[in-house]
Amino acid sequence: MTTTLRPPGDKSISHRVLLLAGLARGASRVRNLLDAADVRSTASVLRGLGAEVPQDWSGTVELPGGARYRDASGPLDCGNSGTTARLTAGLVAGLGRAAVLDGDASLRGRPMDRVVYPLQAMGARIRYEGERGRLPIAIASRASGSLRTLRHRPRVASAQVKSCLLLAGLASGTRVEVVEPGRSRDHTERLLAAMGAPLRFGPEGEGARATLEPADGRPSLEPLELRVPGDPSSAAFLVAAALLAGRALRVEEVGLNPTRTGFLEVLRRMGARVTVRETGEEGGEPVGELEVEPSELAGAEVPPEAVPRLLDEVPVLAALGARCAGTLSIRGAGELRVKESDRLSLLASNLRELGVDCREREDGLDVTGTARPLSGTVRTGGDHRVAMAFGTLGAAPGCAIEVDRPACVEVSYPGFWEDLARAAGDGA
Ligand code: S3P
Repeated sequence: MTTTLRPPGDKSISHRVLLLAGLARGASRVRNLLDAADVRSTASVLRGLGAEVPQDWSGTVELPGGARYRDASGPLDCGNSGTTARLTAGLVAGLGRAAVLDGDASLRGRPMDRVVYPLQAMGARIRYEGERGRLPIAIASRASGSLRTLRHRPRVASAQVKSCLLLAGLASGTRVEVVEPGRSRDHTERLLAAMGAPLRFGPEGEGARATLEPADGRPSLEPLELRVPGDPSSAAFLVAAALLAGRALRVEEVGLNPTRTGFLEVLRRMGARVTVRETGEEGGEPVGELEVEPSELAGAEVPPEAVPRLLDEVPVLAALGARCAGTLSIRGAGELRVKESDRLSLLASNLRELGVDCREREDGLDVTGTARPLSGTVRTGGDHRVAMAFGTLGAAPGCAIEVDRPACVEVSYPGFWEDLARAAGDGA
């Protein structure tokens, strides 16, 4: 029997919808907004800047346009969310407002210089209140529309950096061009295009270029009207759980943006039978369904150029690697060391602890699969994707794995444990 599931709304798109809606000239209407802790952080930060964001996200959420932003009166708490901190920094700097941005212990450990430096190059006045390069940061107010044009070539492909700078350009009416060495997710660009922003974007060589060219001050934006597609990164755990359990699964209404689907290509190279059917489009994003059939998994190599399109799927790929016939090698994933945790280190140490042969590399992992029973307690460091990856492995036949902080999945996927049980076949 085939189980059918729908993943929750896309986290990246949900953040962006909240951040962009206030800049539109009318009210946006959005369905399936992800109601999870990270997106709630963006909402509360926006409220702290004077935007109106409703509390009830069930059904259609109406987000007023033409927000009148003000200086924040106290520190804005971005919680665990890097997307909230980095994208809001661009919005606040572009608006010329003053705000202090802060976050939890994990977020305080993550690099902010990648957005602070280019924003300063645009003329924003930002200083570190604590450790250099880290939150909290204080952004000082300045005359709106007074930023300088920017052409930025980040060293690593990062959708958060790119989106931060596009937001700064948008809110201040300044030309911004970002040329990336890889193809990071392009949701900001697609939403902006749907809103009629003066933007050109697309792949260029191995990477991508996005150019915002406001003709005359802050561009006028159409409001958004969309149903947020299901999150492919959340769907990845369900697909993996079904494969590990040898069960058939259909995942409906999942986002199929090509900058997010690298995971499916690796699965196919591992021998997984996953059929992808595109069924429509929402907010400029392709949407469709995945059909998973029971399959034997082999090893595979994930080269550096594949990583930006499966960045958040490395933990779940490592879990699949632990059960494949062969070795799964991942390279060029050094960015995982500065996510919600040092994911490479946590994945490797936990896998070894469970009895899996896993070698940690500077920029990746080599995971050699085993059919032996795996058991033990996993230290997640409070990282939602590490918790969900080991939860997925733990749901496989022959595994008895405890996750130390199961509630941390609330950051991106409330209801994960129930959906996991259904994908893996318990309670179906
Ligand atoms: C995100 C971008 C990615 C990803 C994160 C969400 C976004 O980070 O890992 O979970 O919504 O822009 P990068 O900034 O490294 O691309």
